[in-house]
Amino acid sequence: MSRKYRVGILGATGMVGQRFIQLLANHPQFEVTAVAASDRSQGKTYGEACTWRVGGEMPAVVRAMQVQPPAPPLDCDLVFSSLPGEIARATEESFAAAGHPVISNSSAFRMDEDVPLLIPEINHEHLGLLERQRNKFPKGGFIVTNPNCSTIMLALALAPIHAAFGVEATVATTLQALSGAGYPGVASLDILDNVLPNISGEEEKIETETTKILGRCKDAQIELAPMAVSAQCHRVNVADGHMAAVRVKFTRKPALAELREAFASFRSLPQELGLYSAPATPIVVRDEEDRPQPKLDRDAGNGMTITVGRLRPDSVLDYRFIALSHNTIRGAAGAAILNAELLIALNHL
Ligand SMILES: NC(=O)c1ccc[n+]([C@@H]2O[C@H](COP(=O)([O-])OP(=O)(O)OC[C@H]3O[C@@H](n4cnc5c(N)ncnc54)[C@H](OP(=O)(O)O)[C@@H]3O)[C@@H](O)[C@H]2O)c1
Repeated sequence: MSRKYRVGILGATGMVGQRFIQLLANHPQFEVTAVAASDRSQGKTYGEACTWRVGGEMPAVVRAMQVQPPAPPLDCDLVFSSLPGEIARATEESFAAAGHPVISNSSAFRMDEDVPLLIPEINHEHLGLLERQRNKFPKGGFIVTNPNCSTIMLALALAPIHAAFGVEATVATTLQALSGAGYPGVASLDILDNVLPNISGEEEKIETETTKILGRCKDAQIELAPMAVSAQCHRVNVADGHMAAVRVKFTRKPALAELREAFASFRSLPQELGLYSAPATPIVVRDEEDRPQPKLDRDAGNGMTITVGRLRPDSVLDYRFIALSHNTIRGAAGAAILNAELLIALNHL
């Protein structure tokens, strides 16, 4: 490859924005050339505006960069967006209209009919929707999104077992980490010694996004996967790593060993293409009675592998298991970066 793509990060000072900066610091295909955030941060250097909260040192390359408003023109070829949902829609659209590819992590466009909701291991053919954005963005920009952090985990877990045995219905009960609420997120007095049984909009996102992701793309339209998805979401006192207790009913009920094998042997296009952020194994199965756990398993595959455990027959549906993934890596910044790597490999960038 002759040159690196120059990237701008919208929402660069937030929890997900900092993960972008961290994961892109030594990336072979991308270099960060612009950072944007709210008017609280604009005009300051990134080092002044951002309190680094993701571990290690703030990469030197961004420390002296001036934080810009999130509006074109920005000095970059493409943008990664981790803006709050409510402002993402107009902002991301303005970048696409100005000719920038927008690789978004926010919820604003995920369910739009002409926008791919991409997980490279599952639905790269959904990039066929991009031809429907050509008229809307004649300067060559486009928008590709990654799913909600819990949805990515659930969809990745369901993908191989849906392909093999047909998932008719699934029930997911999530236990979601504090970093999923951004910074400062939930007040400490609300979450210490407590579990919060409501994360605004989260259950609807999981229920709708999952059927789009697992749906088929035909003639630049998505046919939603014909499965019932039910989700209940909880905020728990964990820093990083979302967990879900999942129950599944199948069209053709497999043997337990077949189910385990479908998870463990899952490999897909990112692994075949050797994409830089692709984990060797998208799903790791753990057989110990007490795994997965956020503290022990969230960093599997550099945060890009999800872990499945407690695989058992279920007395109401067919089977149950626990899934776990790193919410700001596989569930956010790492997911968007993998999407961008796939876009390069398939000549969309
Ligand atoms: N955290 C996760 O695990 C996760 C996972 C998947 C998706 N997401 C999505 O990613 C997005 C960011 O989440 P986060 O957790 O990183 O949130 P966050 O920590 O609250 O960060 C928000 C970022 O957006 C900027 N911002 C806020 N209001 C703005 C405005 N009016 N104009 C311009 N910039 C503004 C902030 O800049 P300042 O620092 O200047 O205020 C900051 O950089 C959200 O859409 C969220 O739903 C998050």
